[in-house]
Amino acid sequence: MLDADTSLPQSPSGSQPTASSTLPDQHRRLVTEIPGPRSRELAARKSGAVASGVGTMLPVYVERAGGGIVVDIDGNHLIDLGSGIAVTNVGNAAPAVVAGVQEQVARFTHTCFMITPYEGYVAVCERLNALTPGDHDKRSALFNSGAEAVENAVKIARHATGREAVVVFDHAYHGRTNLTMAMTAKSMPYKSGFGPFAGEVYRAPMSYPFRDAPEVDGAAAAARAIATVETQVGAKNTACVVIEPIQGEGGFVVPAPGFLPALAQWCRENGVLFVADEIQTGFARTGDLFACDHEGVVPDVITTAKGIAGGLPLAAVTGRAEVMDAVHTGGLGGTYGGNPVACAAALGAIATVEQDDLAGAARRIGDVALPVLRELAGERPAIGDVRGRGAMLAIEIVQPGTTLPDPREAARISAACHSEGVVTLTCGTYGNVLRLLPPLVIGEDLLRDGLGVLADAVRAGA
Ligand SMILES: Cc1ncc(COP(=O)(O)O)c(C=O)c1O
Repeated sequence: MLDADTSLPQSPSGSQPTASSTLPDQHRRLVTEIPGPRSRELAARKSGAVASGVGTMLPVYVERAGGGIVVDIDGNHLIDLGSGIAVTNVGNAAPAVVAGVQEQVARFTHTCFMITPYEGYVAVCERLNALTPGDHDKRSALFNSGAEAVENAVKIARHATGREAVVVFDHAYHGRTNLTMAMTAKSMPYKSGFGPFAGEVYRAPMSYPFRDAPEVDGAAAAARAIATVETQVGAKNTACVVIEPIQGEGGFVVPAPGFLPALAQWCRENGVLFVADEIQTGFARTGDLFACDHEGVVPDVITTAKGIAGGLPLAAVTGRAEVMDAVHTGGLGGTYGGNPVACAAALGAIATVEQDDLAGAARRIGDVALPVLRELAGERPAIGDVRGRGAMLAIEIVQPGTTLPDPREAARISAACHSEGVVTLTCGTYGNVLRLLPPLVIGEDLLRDGLGVLADAVRAGA
């Protein structure tokens, strides 16, 4: 049992009106099969209207969401262990986000910051400069999506260093635009048939403790990656190393301790910019404000998105002032980047993360969930590994007694969770990782209920 002062709050019961939104009842409740009849009707309309390349993992159509619950149009209350892929860290329709958006949207919706600017953009950049790792002088620029932020980080790194090569890692995911497809590792579904891809992108081996030999600790894995770069790219050709401090889509791979600091040091010694892609790990998700904070790594440039704005589309590149300011005026931007409504949402979301100590909440989610998952792993050999940090947690499903990935079993477990009203996501290069990304405002009772459903789904396996 957790100490009273460190436990997660229980979920409020009943519908909780807030200043400007209504929190749905915080209990899992199924009133139809999943998906229900109204969702199935919409799924039929979708297939006649929406390009089939845009898939849906759990086709329940959403009516409202908040706290740890998603309510579908059939009236089912599902437990949210996905946060819309690590976006709604502050919860859906979080009061400060709703209030900021409503106030802003009624005043003006768009002028284009590059034409006639506004305070919200500047204020978000100030918050990012203050909160991201390192107390050096920083500058930020705002964009619409994570992929766009990564593209711009590369543009800035190339301009600032006068070099072209970009180093990324096995299992990396950086987005779906042309440059970021080249940076992303996994072919299906992200890249297959969409080439040719952008050039001057090189891949180095990642530290993946579950799949590395036991002697490959963080330092050895870093030496292996550095040797690859030095022999296949050349340090003096390398503009930047781009890395997710905990890999997201690639399988929630947490590198061995020492891996990130050793890479960052090599970058410093060789005039290579160390770019941390914190798009999935950022804004308290891992129990620190940013995952780099955990090992005291200070990136030269950091990309953020997802959790930055409580669900509105916003992304950012933040970096050393001299690096960011190396680019000529007019070299960065875009029509919608740093839209005023998204900036208002970000100011509300960031204030909520700080005021409600959501980093502490993420740590407590890990404290609740990790023992449950580890106990389950002790009982079920299909779980090869339990890993993650804070509220970014995963189990890797394997063929029992081996490290061979079992994506079919992972898909079965996830589907079983869905039909019991728990939103879980899979990920991983091999598609065999179940990941948990609850909103950081989830109540302990809902979290335990969701974990119980997951445990039952795992136990139902062969
Ligand atoms: C680490 C990382 N980088 C980049 C991206 C791309 O972000 P977006 O989907 O907003 O373009 C993602 C999205 O999942 C991500 O997890």
